[in-house]
Amino acid sequence: MQLSDYEAALLAGQEGPAVQRAMQIVTTLGRVYGAPDLIPVASVQVAGVSYRNLGDAGLEFNQDWAAQGARVQVPTTLNPSGMDHKQWREQGFSEDFAAKQVAVVAAYTAMGIMPTCTCIPYEIGNRPRAGQSLAWSESSAVVYANSVLAAHTNREGGPSALAAAICGRTARYGLHLPQNRLATHRITVRCPVRTSHEFAALGYLVGKQVGDGVPCFVGLELPPITLGVDGSASLASDHNDALKLMGAALASSGAVALYHVEGVTLEAQNESMVGPAPHEITVDSLAPTIAELNHAIDQIDLVVIGCPHASLAEIGAVAEELRGKKCRAQVWVTTARAVRDQAAERGWVAEIEAAGGLVVADGCVVVAPMRELCYRTLATNSPKMAAYALPHAGLQARFGDLSACMRAAVTGCWEA
Ligand code: F3S
Repeated sequence: MQLSDYEAALLAGQEGPAVQRAMQIVTTLGRVYGAPDLIPVASVQVAGVSYRNLGDAGLEFNQDWAAQGARVQVPTTLNPSGMDHKQWREQGFSEDFAAKQVAVVAAYTAMGIMPTCTCIPYEIGNRPRAGQSLAWSESSAVVYANSVLAAHTNREGGPSALAAAICGRTARYGLHLPQNRLATHRITVRCPVRTSHEFAALGYLVGKQVGDGVPCFVGLELPPITLGVDGSASLASDHNDALKLMGAALASSGAVALYHVEGVTLEAQNESMVGPAPHEITVDSLAPTIAELNHAIDQIDLVVIGCPHASLAEIGAVAEELRGKKCRAQVWVTTARAVRDQAAERGWVAEIEAAGGLVVADGCVVVAPMRELCYRTLATNSPKMAAYALPHAGLQARFGDLSACMRAAVTGCWEA
């Protein structure tokens, strides 16, 4: 791999052991994947934040790196942690877990990382411009960045993203190369796909079939994404939420990091992004996929909206559904703290709380210590959450649209 004189000096330890360790990680990955060289990154998203997943070993690894002098060189945001940093008692988590979780975030902030604790960094200021190179490591954010924003990032692991932030570079391979951004699968959609719920189910269905391939959807009725004056993608909030949910589902049932929608996503508007000899997939119905995402449970203990983290529009929709009602099930709307603050200004947080729900900032149910709590069942509008709930949180799940979830919140039961 070709390194500049400066990069070679960093690898030799000229800037100290913290940067040297980062360069070792980045260049080792580059050699493994046959990268010709390194490229600067515009921003980094670091995953691996919940103490439940990181444990003491991961916490000490990060504390050690920070103590060596590791500091990020580019704007770097943090994925969700295991709890709301202010409301963890209301969520029911223990003092022990909270203390360790606070220590994890402190180690990251010591390196200069913004403690955003969200999987939608693109909604709170870390919104890349089309064509920018990134090193992001949250799968739902990666697929959004590549597909909706037309930025370029691989699905980094937590440590490799952190290394990229500390040395400001990543290896040029995978989705940083134009030839790897061509679709491997053409997906012809013949059934109606209009609501967020249907886009999400479509993503789950197709992700299972394409694995780590690049699907190009044909036949989806969406307006083209436009470029804003700042060079970043601009689209209406309902389309944004639909594509966000679809991408997260693609990245969870499969390992999709990039999709195209013919005539809609920025890279697929004016030229075909379908590569040579694509696999052909036709989708005629979403019903089997929706059935597959539903366990046969009637009683609902917890309703989770916000996987990926809820947008302001989604929180507004929950508030509208719950206005003047009382919930029998617990409701958690997970989101970024900055988005929660905006929702609070509009009175939506108070409305959801008046119905008995919580608007949870900073956290994610999938990486939270849910087995500490008494919940056994969950309803959600996210296929990713529905699929991960049992293996990661021990919760059987129902998957439906937002209205169905809110009805379950009020009655405590899932309507067939
Ligand atoms: Fe975000 Fe957690 Fe879902 S990180 S995408 S809310 S599993």
